[in-house]
Amino acid sequence: SINSQEKVDPFSLVADELQVVANRLRSMVTAEVPVLALAAEYFFKMGVEGKRFRPMVLLLMSTALMTTPAHGLQDLIFDDLRLRQQRIAEITEMIHVASLLHDDVLDHADTRRGISSLNSMMGNKLAVLAGDFLLARASVALASLRNTEVVELLSKVLEHLVTGEIMQLSSEPKDMSNMDYYMQKTFYKTASLMANSCKAIAVLGGQPEEVALHAFDYGRHLGLAYQLVDDALDYTGTTKTLGKPALSDLGQGIVTAPVLFALKEFPEMSKLIQRKFKTATDRNQAVEMVKESRGIAQTHELAAEHAQKAVDAIDSLPPNPSLQVQQCRRALIDIAHQVITRSK
Ligand code: FPP
Ligand code: MG
Ligand code: MG
Repeated sequence: SINSQEKVDPFSLVADELQVVANRLRSMVTAEVPVLALAAEYFFKMGVEGKRFRPMVLLLMSTALMTTPAHGLQDLIFDDLRLRQQRIAEITEMIHVASLLHDDVLDHADTRRGISSLNSMMGNKLAVLAGDFLLARASVALASLRNTEVVELLSKVLEHLVTGEIMQLSSEPKDMSNMDYYMQKTFYKTASLMANSCKAIAVLGGQPEEVALHAFDYGRHLGLAYQLVDDALDYTGTTKTLGKPALSDLGQGIVTAPVLFALKEFPEMSKLIQRKFKTATDRNQAVEMVKESRGIAQTHELAAEHAQKAVDAIDSLPPNPSLQVQQCRRALIDIAHQVITRSK
């Protein structure tokens, strides 16, 4: 028999249901206008045939918070509450992909996950509109849930994504050199979507506020850990292992955790930050300082602390003897560990 302490591949626990979600997503992005239909096809290559990381976490969270046992997996997948929680997974994925379409325009990115970016294929105008289109479809789906608290949670995410992106544009030295500013920006840009969508799963499930907060905390800490590891990988990875150019943050003048930790050991980093690593010499010096310092190690340590807090959030959920529930909680814990040990 399967023991909840045994490792189970988190993805395989919800693989069938992810397929259901993927099929529904496909029908949600169909458009009458051919050019938008093409963009939607791209969305499919990117969002659905991508990692499906967010939908996976949200479906696992749905089961992790279940209070009445399901009879069988098939019953569960088409249960009314479950359908509504799946909708959160779909909306979350649409918001995520919309933000990436806009991000690639802002960043002048040519590629995304190893394929050409939509802006590079069809131009900025269409990429922006395709992102708007996805947001519009996500809004309709969100409204159809008839739950204003959930609408509020996911609308807040949109505000946070934009706020985080604008905070990143700041060229105020006191902002750029500040760890708190950086963590706040990171929450807005990366962790808010996971935090608020996990909370929305709990709210739809009729969970008490305390449980909803644990769900939120899991998403928040997982998102922060994920981004910190990403920041470190930008310095330790290669274009080959990452599937995207290494040192890209530095190249864009963006200060991340490794630089902020290195700044504590090398005050000379300050002037490079202020110049936004403008010249090749600036960038080489910055990389030197990051590598000479404990910056990468400290970034990993901070990521590990957040991963542990994500685990703690799951461990704080009310006890539940159901094997299904325990397996999904275990999978969420494994994901927190995987996030900090990944190399791409
Ligand atoms: C990727 O970051 C970008 C984000 C996580 C958020 C982008 C948000 C906006 C563009 C605001 C508009 C929001 C909506 C909802 C349309 P990155 O550039 O650091 O990483 P990556 O390009 O390497 O993935
Ligand atoms: Mg980008
Ligand atoms: Mg960006």
